[in-house]
Amino acid sequence: MRVSDTADLWWKNAVLYCLDVETYMDWDDDGTGDFPGLVQRLDHLVDLGVTCLWLMPFYPTAERDDGYDITDFYGVDPRLGTHGDVVELIRTAHDRGLRVIVDLVVNHTSDQHPWFKESRKSTDNPYRDWYVWRSDTPPDTSDQVVFPDQEDSIWELDEKTGEYYLHQFYKTQPDLNVTNPLVRDEIAKIVGFWTQLGIDGFRMDAVPFLLDTSGNGDGEAARLPDPHGYLRDIRAFLDRRTNGGILLGEVNLPFEQQLEFYGGADGDELTMQFDFIGMQATYLSLARGDAGPLATALQGRPATAPDSQWATFVRNHDELTLDKLTEPERQEVFAAFGPEPEMQIYDRGLIRRLPPMLGGDPRRVRMVYSLLFSLPGTPTLFYGEEIGMGEQLSVGSRLAVRTPMQWTSGTNGGFSRARASKLPGPVVTGGYAPEFVNVADQRKDPDSLLSFFRLLISRRKECPELGWGSFEVLEQPHAAVLAHLCSWDDGALVALHNLGPEPVVVPVDLDGCGAEHLLADLLVEGTTAVDAQGRAELALEGYGYRWLRVVAPGTRRLL
Ligand code: GLC
Repeated sequence: MRVSDTADLWWKNAVLYCLDVETYMDWDDDGTGDFPGLVQRLDHLVDLGVTCLWLMPFYPTAERDDGYDITDFYGVDPRLGTHGDVVELIRTAHDRGLRVIVDLVVNHTSDQHPWFKESRKSTDNPYRDWYVWRSDTPPDTSDQVVFPDQEDSIWELDEKTGEYYLHQFYKTQPDLNVTNPLVRDEIAKIVGFWTQLGIDGFRMDAVPFLLDTSGNGDGEAARLPDPHGYLRDIRAFLDRRTNGGILLGEVNLPFEQQLEFYGGADGDELTMQFDFIGMQATYLSLARGDAGPLATALQGRPATAPDSQWATFVRNHDELTLDKLTEPERQEVFAAFGPEPEMQIYDRGLIRRLPPMLGGDPRRVRMVYSLLFSLPGTPTLFYGEEIGMGEQLSVGSRLAVRTPMQWTSGTNGGFSRARASKLPGPVVTGGYAPEFVNVADQRKDPDSLLSFFRLLISRRKECPELGWGSFEVLEQPHAAVLAHLCSWDDGALVALHNLGPEPVVVPVDLDGCGAEHLLADLLVEGTTAVDAQGRAELALEGYGYRWLRVVAPGTRRLL
């Protein structure tokens, strides 16, 4: 493998950053974030070092699911800007070497979408079959709903025609019928439209729900005969229309099933998928101060085709889902990081951000991000993580973590000069308020979390072996420590993370190394000797972390 491969398979060595234009930066002072505001802030992102933006839905919406209920797939929410503004954003981002991917939410539309308004008019409307209808009384589906606080069935009776429509999410989000070739053609057109404007791929929403056509009835004939064939078609179409465009899929399923969504060994379906399993294991490990669950999860990740990649994360825009843990494990994480009922949601998740969950302990916060950036996969950040933003629990839903970005210590955190009542939601109050947590202050402080992120990201980018190379958990005696080795043709790197509060000395045994090798710290100054048997002893503070390049004699890599 050559360094130039990191340009071809750019997503394998990328740093992704998710943001919602609505809450990022308001430039026209109407209280809502907008594209011109985001353009003004691109240089913050460049300075941070991220390489690809993921824009949450910015399309016209009925605003029942924060933009995930779309009323026009080809439009731009007028509060956020125009097509012209989107093009300016893409153009400016590309100028800075930043790629842009956008949310593709085609499992469903808003019930206010013109297609659905037509569809519900009559059973013989030309748009009837764009959605999934049934005339018989549906069975109890209360165990299948995604949002159990709001819904108790995935079928909703529509009075006008007396039939039920399928909605796997909120009842205001009727599912599109992808068994209908007209719908599949339209989805291709949507993909084609945004790629033509220059985007670099999609974050694909709710992929297993999109491909599951069992709602169409029992007969095989009613279903999509080859759902993965359909996903392959979308990928092939994107490949034809772009130069290295990606599909980053939301597939919260066990690893073995995720493998199918990559297209297995052919790797011709989703380019990337979020690692929900590794994320949940990380929280269990943090709660226990025991690296075991995380090590087990990482070792259980199946190998993918060389071009496929995992997207790693510790927080996203939704609830911090713990749905793949066992009930007692989930209760352990709840007890450690979200003991109050108002911190929990859907009986499976938390609506908090990382720093408050870790009691604001800067050692632990940095250790977790060091861990994230050292694991195999492509790290994916949610806006505000780089400055350690907290949540606003009083919002009481997933929106608690979608508060306005905190730029300065001034009014509205510098997000907007409009009256507070005009903002999309409250700015965080309390100990994580803009007065204490903001970009402007941290930019100038070499010891800030923001400066630490810059360091992590620049090191991460120059170490493709971290995200991309082969991965091995190193045996060592401390349960609290994850020691791992990432190797690549051109080198190897040891990463150590102490999930516990006690300082430890970690003995590591490096196969194939001897006294001619050195371990060189990459995050601080320092080197450690390796003995003739390839052993080294590495000290770690409580919640400490180290990245060490294995330096072979004559190496030309920069240390
Ligand atoms: C995905 C999104 C979530 C949204 C849902 C329905 O899970 O991440 O925010 O509510 O899809 O579109």
